[in-house]
Amino acid sequence: MYICLCKGISEAQFDEIIDQHQGCLRRIAKTMGLDESCCGRCEELLPELIANRVDTDSLLPAS
Ligand code: FES
Repeated sequence: MYICLCKGISEAQFDEIIDQHQGCLRRIAKTMGLDESCCGRCEELLPELIANRVDTDSLLPAS
């Protein structure tokens, strides 16, 4: 599944970007390359997608 069709970012790539930037919305959007040429559809969902990812991580056992 693709999170961002405009930039061709898959769910796996998106998860890596979230982890890389520790959930920082501004840095995640910058790394994804979102700009005025994009439709903005995924941008509206980013806070929820990030929160879901962070919640999932907190459920994993500590290693
Ligand atoms: S789908 Fe991500 S900006 Fe269009």
